[in-house]
Amino acid sequence: MIRVRIPATTANLGPGFDCMGLALDLWNTFELHYGGDGIEVESHGEGSQGLPTDATNLIPSIMAEELGESMPKAFKIVCHNTIPVASGLGSSSTAVLAGVLFAESVKRTLAGADPSDLDRERVLARAVAVEGHGDNVAPALLGGFVIVVPDECGVLTQRVPHVPMKTVVCVPDFAYLTSQARAALPDSYSKADAIYNIGRAMLVAEALRGGDDDLLAKAMNDRIHEPYRLHAIPGALEARTAARDAGAICVSLSGAGPGMIAFAREGYDRIGRAMKNSFTSVGLSSRYWILDATDQGVHIGRLPM
Ligand code: HSE
Repeated sequence: MIRVRIPATTANLGPGFDCMGLALDLWNTFELHYGGDGIEVESHGEGSQGLPTDATNLIPSIMAEELGESMPKAFKIVCHNTIPVASGLGSSSTAVLAGVLFAESVKRTLAGADPSDLDRERVLARAVAVEGHGDNVAPALLGGFVIVVPDECGVLTQRVPHVPMKTVVCVPDFAYLTSQARAALPDSYSKADAIYNIGRAMLVAEALRGGDDDLLAKAMNDRIHEPYRLHAIPGALEARTAARDAGAICVSLSGAGPGMIAFAREGYDRIGRAMKNSFTSVGLSSRYWILDATDQGVHIGRLPM
């Protein structure tokens, strides 16, 4: 019996497409209980209605792929979700990580080892392989602000210390799947756009590390993904302007969206309401969360039998 607690994440942080992510203080919790009559998944909270309750659920599917013949025949997974689904806050990445973590814990149990004492480097490599990019799973696993890039041997990861940071994330009630958002991107970019983003990604990292809000405001701009995505989300461009006018330091798409994330030092509700009003004005309902960045990553605990 094992319980994992996994934080929300915001990926990209403007110019760091697929390479930068930050863990946020909002959590999904997953429990693995052995026994029962087969494979069962019980979900509570955000998005629980539409999720498969059997072996077709993403978590046991990943476990089956990781475990092959060693897949246990009877267990129950209980999910307590507080991260909104399909929002740009890495909810599906928490499920990917849960699947990989549970598979690793089963392997360790079969080997007679402590199931909660997992090799995080191996878990990260597997989770990135399943997800296809590491900018949600890496900060979710490790906590904090993480730079993660593909490498010949897997992934190169660096956790960069950052000053405490508060964010306001506003999520419109608008279906914009990550697959759709990725399909909207071109296959190649001009040298000018590459230079624009490489420099700004470095400046965003430096601004977060040093707590330099002026630099963050100037650096958090992007030419790799936002120009191709923002116009597809009604009210997103207006929400960005409104949040800046309401005092946000900078605003970007959270991951692939549709959520927008504002970084701020004050006026959190004012910023949240400003973004919400922008979505309301185009006929979309929305919700906003005021979230601290967190240095805590995945927490793994053993449950009493
Ligand atoms: N970097 C990814 C993207 C994040 O923008 O497509 C998706 O969660």
